[in-house]
Amino acid sequence: MKYYYSIKEIIINKNKFLNKNLLIKGWIKFFRNNFFLEINDGSTIKNLQVVIKKEIFKKKLKKINIGNPIKIFGKLKLHKNNKDVEMLPLNIKLYGKIDKKFFDKSILQNKFHSLSKLRKQIYLRFRTKIFSSIMKIRHNLYIQIHNFFKKKHFYYINTPIISNNNAEGAGETFRVTTIDFENKKNNLNCKNDFFKCKVNLTVSGQLEAESAMLGLGKVYTFGPVFRAENSNTNKHLSEFLMVEPEIMFYKLKDIIKLSVKLIKYLIKKILKYCIEELKYLEYYHKKNNNKNGKNLIKLLKNIQKKKFIKISYNKVIKLLKSINNKIIFWGDDIGSKHEKILFEKIFKKELLPLIIYNYPKNIKPFYMKINKDNITTKSIDILFPYIGEIIGGSEREHSYKKLLKIIKKKNMNIKKIKWYLNIRKLGTIYHSGFGLGFDRLLQFITGMKNIRDVVPFPRLPGKI
Ligand code: 4AD
Ligand code: MG
Repeated sequence: MKYYYSIKEIIINKNKFLNKNLLIKGWIKFFRNNFFLEINDGSTIKNLQVVIKKEIFKKKLKKINIGNPIKIFGKLKLHKNNKDVEMLPLNIKLYGKIDKKFFDKSILQNKFHSLSKLRKQIYLRFRTKIFSSIMKIRHNLYIQIHNFFKKKHFYYINTPIISNNNAEGAGETFRVTTIDFENKKNNLNCKNDFFKCKVNLTVSGQLEAESAMLGLGKVYTFGPVFRAENSNTNKHLSEFLMVEPEIMFYKLKDIIKLSVKLIKYLIKKILKYCIEELKYLEYYHKKNNNKNGKNLIKLLKNIQKKKFIKISYNKVIKLLKSINNKIIFWGDDIGSKHEKILFEKIFKKELLPLIIYNYPKNIKPFYMKINKDNITTKSIDILFPYIGEIIGGSEREHSYKKLLKIIKKKNMNIKKIKWYLNIRKLGTIYHSGFGLGFDRLLQFITGMKNIRDVVPFPRLPGKI
């Protein structure tokens, strides 16, 4: 195959390539005045302009459609704005028929699209500028997470997707079975099932990461987790990615530091490597009057530079009660309507993440270490403007006795969690960790209103 250059390479090295003949391959994004083509090849959100001489390509021009894959061999010239480059083709080859009746060709153009309309043709979304920009940021965010932990000497551990525990203690799991339950002749007892017991998709890799930590010191798991919550909101998915570090000899203050460093690092890197995409997103949000993203770059820079707000659960309850005495009571979880008040009334000016610590034990999972007051836990949630909770973490209960007591009190199945309890018997040590919702962080970074628009193929209640 003859070497062809990506449009990204050409734009970066434009001075080197000027007046040279090059081969490019991509798709037609735009066709103007019957002789200007704009080509995109996915390597960047920028297009390369191709100026066609009508006399030479008369026959080809008739066949051109927006969306056609195309191969062009041509000379790179300086655009008359003296800044950009454009191509004068010597040879053109078109590929792929476009069935005009099949779908709205605006999807293939540089137009703004209704995001809900795009969700109905989910397999075509990658071809839009908005979605491909988000996917590029998604890719970079993924890589930068691994880079951060590598720099901090963490080991990556992939924890299983098929599990028989529910780390979060809630009943919101997907069953995994090979039994064909539509066939009535089958005995639906899980003893006859593939694993000979009740099995589900994991809701978190934390418990396994804790056992890996006891041999590797600093570990993180980063993979898909599954929750069968029937939440049709703009920040819930049934399948999402979670980053979960677990570190020995770490106290609550240490994971607060680590999580703040991680957030700041990721935002810094995205501002560095994805600035073109962020600029486009900001432009998109301004045009579409979306308040989450109107000042996206300023918002991100602010977070990168400023100190986050740290506040106890008790204080948050007091602040919320000062606005409306009946809106929340001590012991309640901080939900979306409270988050809205926190960011739109109480901390309106700052627009910074809010680190809330010491949540009541009754609303937190079994593994969290309980404070001396015996009613609150050594826990944090980090809430972000517009989205709400993006991080949740805690010190872990490392005493066998205390953990057993909580497990019994919560009526959990001891047999299933025995292995986790046992790691407290062999050289147990205080440790902490947290979970960061990857897709929610990406939603925040891209200023998108709905998490469904930052995930390649979102899974939701009633929709697959
Ligand atoms: O707060 P969660 O449930 O914490 C855990 O699962 C712990 N085991 C993590 C740990 O300490 N290792 O979930 C962690 C994060 C949330 O803060 C949120 O960002 C995200 O996961 N999350 C979701 N994201 C999208 N859709 C959902 N349905 C989510 N549920 C939680
Ligand atoms: Mg949580």
